[in-house]
Amino acid sequence: MADHSYDYDVLVIGAGPGGYVAAIRAAQLGLKTACAESRETLGGTCLNVGCIPSKAMLHASEFYDAAANGAMAEMGIDVKPTLNLEQMHAQRRDAVKGLTGGIEFLFKKNKVDWKKGHATFQDAHTVKVGDETVTAKNIIIATGSSVTPLPGVEVDNDAGVVVDSTGALELPAVPKKMVVIGGGVIGLEMGSVWNRLGAEVIVVEYLDKLLPGMDDDVRKEAAKIFKKQGMELRLSTKVTGCSVDGKTASLTLEPAAGGEAETLEADCVLVSIGRRPNTDGLGLDTIGLETNKRGQIETEQDFRTAVDGVWAIGDCVPGPMLAHKAEDEGIACAENIAGQTGIVNHDIIPGVVYTLPEFAGVGLTQEEAIEKMGGDKAKIKVGKFPMMANSRAKTNHEPDGFVKIIAEAESDRVLGVWCINNVAGTMIAQAAQAMEFGATSEDIAYTCHAHPTHSEAIKEAAMAVQGKAIHV
Ligand code: FAD
Ligand code: NAI
Repeated sequence: MADHSYDYDVLVIGAGPGGYVAAIRAAQLGLKTACAESRETLGGTCLNVGCIPSKAMLHASEFYDAAANGAMAEMGIDVKPTLNLEQMHAQRRDAVKGLTGGIEFLFKKNKVDWKKGHATFQDAHTVKVGDETVTAKNIIIATGSSVTPLPGVEVDNDAGVVVDSTGALELPAVPKKMVVIGGGVIGLEMGSVWNRLGAEVIVVEYLDKLLPGMDDDVRKEAAKIFKKQGMELRLSTKVTGCSVDGKTASLTLEPAAGGEAETLEADCVLVSIGRRPNTDGLGLDTIGLETNKRGQIETEQDFRTAVDGVWAIGDCVPGPMLAHKAEDEGIACAENIAGQTGIVNHDIIPGVVYTLPEFAGVGLTQEEAIEKMGGDKAKIKVGKFPMMANSRAKTNHEPDGFVKIIAEAESDRVLGVWCINNVAGTMIAQAAQAMEFGATSEDIAYTCHAHPTHSEAIKEAAMAVQGKAIHV
């Protein structure tokens, strides 16, 4: 397979979940592979400053919250917790260190060469990484994404007053008052962490609902749940400016539709209004590769770009900015380069918000399903089952949430599944698998589910599609 006119068969730019997985898969398939990464450690956003450290803080703060706010006492365990934030950060850093080091080990094991430094194209088969010039027959762009800036609100993670998600992971003390700009995934996850640890959290969201992209019922329920947890929600509101004086930020807010401005002071502001693809400084002009209006690199279904020999995957291409989507694209792309048939089913990519309860979904929202049926509501059927009626959730004192299944009326084929409950992120895998196998709601309803588990709510929601749920 090796083409000796190049240094490598495959060079991957970026070692996030898209890039490192693509590199390992390519090497497994017998291709001589290198991966360029400018960070000090491998693993990209996900392992260094994203999925993993945020989950470490979410998990630890859940324990604190359960101890501090009566959930443990309810179960007969009386404790008065003291927050050791330094240790909480230390266990987070430890998790990151272990996992990023693990990727380095996997690179060595699979003989993937790590080229340390920022990569820039010289031509479609040549990349400069630091002082080194590397040639490859195939180059995969997996450069990921970074925080979208908000004009007028300058992030300074070192000062720790106006921060982005990276700064919000590292706060040295619990803020008294934290304003979260953007009620999306990062805002709610990081807002939850600091809310649990004692901060007053105010979420300012431009739209009239939280969590864009999720099913409307889920979004409405999310507002109720986060309010109940003590967050203040300022929906349909925009931030128009921010000034910082010492340790205090003053934000100017306005109704999204325009109107009277007001000022809000806080000792911490989190900017979490989305992420944008990393394509600057890559030298795309040099190889004549254009980005779309959103700065993303467009690809064919097999992840090849408009430039021969150049491929792209992960957060820098269209689709949800999720680690598992990037990983699956990495595998498929490497397989396509090796002459196999790598496919990603972009219709079935689960999404999870790791708050408590968790919010998870896969497939179409009810609104999208109706739209797909030409606006005819009768063409879909919906089954819903509340977690209040699930014996395990009720026993565990976890009453919040529901499972909702959307099926095509005529064929009964499942089009979308939405779950809110404490283990929704784990539960959604069975829904994705069922949908991948083309399941009907009846298939799920007649699959035996262990009792007592939260997953029985999926079975019951499937039964509810036919109006035959047992426990409601
Ligand atoms: P990235 O992980 O961004 O990796 C790209 C890498 O390329 C980076 O390390 C960068 O340094 C490197 N790079 C860029 N340009 C160059 C260059 N020119 N030369 C050399 N190297 C370069 N997703 C989930 O699915 N679940 C979660 O729970 C989750 N939590 C998140 C929490 C936070 C706080 C954040 C910020 C994100 C979270 N995400 C989560 C999103 C997830 O991190 C991304 O979708 C995922 O990391 C994308 O992978 P990627 O490989 O495309 O890019
Ligand atoms: P997001 O797109 O999830 O949410 C951004 C929110 O900010 C939206 O609700 C949007 O309406 C709002 N917004 C935009 N401009 C605004 C403004 N000027 N004022 C007020 N609100 C404004 O983006 P987020 O939370 O920054 O996350 C970025 C990406 O990272 C997401 O695409 C997500 O997929 C990924 N991620 C995934 C996680 C997971 O899978 N659990 C966790 C964290 C991030």
